Amino acid sequence: AIDPEFENNREIAEEHEGHNVWGPVEEPETLGIHGTHVAVDFDICLADGACLEDCPVDVFEWVDTPDHPESEIKADPAHEDQCIDCMLCVDVCPVDAIDVDPG
Ligand code: SF4
Ligand code: F3S
Ligand code: ZN
Repeated sequence: AIDPEFENNREIAEEHEGHNVWGPVEEPETLGIHGTHVAVDFDICLADGACLEDCPVDVFEWVDTPDHPESEIKADPAHEDQCIDCMLCVDVCPVDAIDVDPG
């Protein structure tokens, strides 16, 4: 499961489409955590797609991650600023790859 303390345990490695990427990042096999308010551990996500289907405000978009061992697409929190903290994505992800911090 995603580490809920990732903001303390990781460092920002880069930015992607306006959100943080928390390292380590070593492409293509290690991709880190994308997003902060809505955080997706790309190294756990296996492209189930429930988060994209169920998010009421369409926070997620698919991004291509060729040659990643778990899946070749990931749910990117491209519009994390739109999140309404319903927690649906956290509940439906089968591998607990998502952390939402209502803060
Ligand atoms: Fe979308 Fe709700 Fe998840 Fe926020 S908590 S990203 S609104 S499903
Ligand atoms: Fe990935 Fe979980 Fe969404 S596996 S596609 S973050 S439901
Ligand atoms: Zn991203």
